[in-house]
Amino acid sequence: MKRATSTLIGFIMVLSPLTRETTAGQTKDPLAFPGDSFTVETKMVKTAAGEKKVTFRAYLHIPYVANPVDKDYQSLNVSIPVEIDGKAVDAENAPILFDIGVGGYMSVRNAGGNPGGPGSGRGGPPNSSSVSSRSDLALAAGYVIVSPGCRGRDNKAADGTYYGKAPAAIVDLKAAVRYIRHNKGVMPGNVDRIVSVGCSAGGALSALLGASGNSPLYDAYLKEIGAADAADDIYASACYSPITDLEHADGAYEWMFGPIPARSGLVDQELSKQLKASYAEYQQSLNIKGKNNFGTLSADNYDKYLLQYYLVPSANKYLKELTDNARIAYLANNKWITWTDAGASFTFTDYVAHVGRMKNLPAFDDFNMKQPEPELFGNKTTAARHFTNFSLRQSTGDQHAEIDSELKTLVNMMNAMYFIRQNNRDCAVQWWLRNGTSDNHTSQTVMVNLATSLENMNRGVNAWVFWDGGHCADDDPEGLITWIGAVTGFSMHAEAGK
Ligand code: DHB
Repeated sequence: MKRATSTLIGFIMVLSPLTRETTAGQTKDPLAFPGDSFTVETKMVKTAAGEKKVTFRAYLHIPYVANPVDKDYQSLNVSIPVEIDGKAVDAENAPILFDIGVGGYMSVRNAGGNPGGPGSGRGGPPNSSSVSSRSDLALAAGYVIVSPGCRGRDNKAADGTYYGKAPAAIVDLKAAVRYIRHNKGVMPGNVDRIVSVGCSAGGALSALLGASGNSPLYDAYLKEIGAADAADDIYASACYSPITDLEHADGAYEWMFGPIPARSGLVDQELSKQLKASYAEYQQSLNIKGKNNFGTLSADNYDKYLLQYYLVPSANKYLKELTDNARIAYLANNKWITWTDAGASFTFTDYVAHVGRMKNLPAFDDFNMKQPEPELFGNKTTAARHFTNFSLRQSTGDQHAEIDSELKTLVNMMNAMYFIRQNNRDCAVQWWLRNGTSDNHTSQTVMVNLATSLENMNRGVNAWVFWDGGHCADDDPEGLITWIGAVTGFSMHAEAGK
């Protein structure tokens, strides 16, 4: 029986499009994990529990598709811990941290000697030098780290055409996940415990990877680049300041910041009101229920919901952890906060004024198409395109103009909320969502809509906002590592004892 199975596998391998003839006439899988091609590296990792010496196998620049458009981007790095503080560790069954380094929807290059390669950029925690980067902390916890490169809106070929516009980045990340699955049992790590992480555009891609697992929408794109024929769902998704739900983000931004002056002054209040009204409609259509019978979240009650479940708890934690003197000083500088035995209280309006408005109107699909998002939705020959009817109509003056249906599909393919609204069956089961309360890159409703929709779908959601934290804030880098251990049930000490 065993022999028959291996013969069958051999037969399938010969037929697979992912195999290549070698000169010896044997077939070679171009997506096989190069088990022996590693270097052994050592690094000191600063954890909350002190420094750890981690020895790991480093695999660099492995192409993850058979027909790459540009393998400098469509390749990944893998780090596999083998010894921590002198003790051997076994990563065979360890969670796999899939560390998305994307910022601003730009490409992530993965080529030799590149200091800006994956894992080098947005690995957080950005504002703290007391502990090492997220991926190093994960490595020191015995997890396998995969750092994928991927295409982005900036990729331009010698002939001037673009090759990284939407949906290239998510297609590449899915291909990298498929590569990991394809190498199940060969590459160490538990393919059923892949946890993605990223911040901002990377957080949005992490959310999208988590939400869109195994969606057939991407199949043709994946086939074209020769992605492995394997599942691309992931177990868990960690998202810091996710810049997602792009086509609704302009309205949400006006809902939150409409009457607050930007650096260049007050934005057009009439247009702001129109966008805010479209957001109210969208929010209603989501039909998601807040915690503890709060009811359906709407443009009218979202301020109250954010205060009750996110902002006040965050302020309370922050203020309680200050020394008495530091708290007195903080409150003296922030008279909009009332502090009593019951904790902090403040109005949403005062909170938003404290945060301030960063972007102009529209915040994402801006009329001049200078923001990252119109560029994300460019195409092979067009640097940037409007992707909302609102901005298209404003800039063409044609009140009936419509985003064409092909672009609309691309916009959906870049939006985690699209797949969550479809109740995608293979949506990740565990979610870690984080933002800073002072992040003014997008509305606070964006992450909380993600959190609430996922709660409504009975997914495990651990969501928190860091008080006075900015874009990509991470005051609790070890929290993610501990959470991954808890939701995956992995402990390197338990593995060592097996
Ligand atoms: C990022 C920030 C933005 O404000 C935005 O619109 C898109 C991406 C980022 O930091 O990745």
